[in-house]
Amino acid sequence: MDSILVTGNGPLSGQIPIAGAKNACLTLMPATLLSDAPLTLTNAPRLSDIKTMTTLLQSLGVEVTSLQDGQVLAMSSHDLTNHVADYDIVRKMRASILVLGPMLARHGHAVVSLPGGCAIGARPVDLHLKALEALGAELELKEGYVHAKASQGLRGGTVDFPFVSVGATENAVMAASLAKGGTVIKNAAREPEIVDLVQCLQKMGAQISGAGTSTIEVQGVDRLDGATHPVVTDRIELGTYMLAPAICGGEVECLGGRIELVKSFCEKLDEAGVAVEETKAGLKVARKNGAVKAVDVVTEPFPGFPTDLQAQMMALMCTAEGTSVLEEKIFENRFMHAPELMRMGAQIDVQGGTATVTGVERLKGAPVMATDLRASVSLILAGLAAEGETLVNRVYHLDRGYERVEEKLGHVGAKIERVEGQ
Ligand code: EPZ
Repeated sequence: MDSILVTGNGPLSGQIPIAGAKNACLTLMPATLLSDAPLTLTNAPRLSDIKTMTTLLQSLGVEVTSLQDGQVLAMSSHDLTNHVADYDIVRKMRASILVLGPMLARHGHAVVSLPGGCAIGARPVDLHLKALEALGAELELKEGYVHAKASQGLRGGTVDFPFVSVGATENAVMAASLAKGGTVIKNAAREPEIVDLVQCLQKMGAQISGAGTSTIEVQGVDRLDGATHPVVTDRIELGTYMLAPAICGGEVECLGGRIELVKSFCEKLDEAGVAVEETKAGLKVARKNGAVKAVDVVTEPFPGFPTDLQAQMMALMCTAEGTSVLEEKIFENRFMHAPELMRMGAQIDVQGGTATVTGVERLKGAPVMATDLRASVSLILAGLAAEGETLVNRVYHLDRGYERVEEKLGHVGAKIERVEGQ
């Protein structure tokens, strides 16, 4: 297993290109199952999660050709040969559940392994299943697999989510796009990745309105065409790299960054004393004057503060002036980076879903363990500002969601290298 060695090396300067969004690409790829015509995605990120989704789709008989060093994914599900999404692949990545809705909608049956939990929480898929049942699916759980049937095809209905779920919204929208009749999805997720999925589906001929709001309406169509669609910029990678100059000084321009993708996050940065300037090429970030002030954070569904930036923000708060309170309201166990940050001298008190962070003058480098994707990058950020060396182990977590982090940060002056695992 590889590790990443980071040595605190002072202020950063330069430009970091932001890739296409992992969480958009992971729902755009299964959309190919909705049509027998080719779907091509451009600006795709080069990540291990994308490779896992590629393997899953190929196991179903989808042709997936990766072009331009992985930035273009040409897909065709013309000859679907298998309708079973196997546990061996699904257990590696929860987003695999997103093949259920489109496969059921187009083929009338699908068998998908339940994903099982993950490090940050139980993450059940009950809302996905209830949404499909509202569209007429007959579901049976057998030996850890969901057996879904819609022999007469799906029919439009009302999906009313008790709370916001990004993935369940995506499954519902994709399934409804081929259902007979109209569907209303209430309390829908409003994330930019949903908007991106809907824009792609509309290019394929889907009749959808309300994306980005809490109510999405879908008028089912008989079939969908192919399309070519650029994956939206990754707002979580963007926010992550915006924190690099915030935590260790200097000025970095994040290329491709757009303020509307990270509005609530930027409001918190502004409160903390970090300036964000919109440029022609993206977002330029620098501390306003020397110190960063502690601010409080509550994670919420979009457009609130993203849970996927909570760990990274905590790293910044570890060296801020004052005390900050971070409330994680989306997942039940998303503070695993806290004990690792404390190994670096951070002062953090975790009580249930609340972490109270008292800023310290300087963190000290230490060997630390990555536990999940966003926790691992928060340790990298902390290492950028820490005195001495920080060795982040188990970076396979990192490679799921960040392409070539050591190259991107090294390019702006960070002292960072990948240490090949034995
Ligand atoms: C998506 O996960 C993202 N993943 C997550 O990013 C992100 O943290 C999350 O949305 C919230 O924004 C992808 O898009 C691939 P949810 P998802 O359904 O769809 C509970 C990252 O780091 N829930 O919005 O799985 C669930 O347990 C990842 O890139 C149910 O109870 O998230 C959670 O507590 C991590 N039943 C809450 O809802 C369900 O059927 C929100 O989950 C579905 C969800």
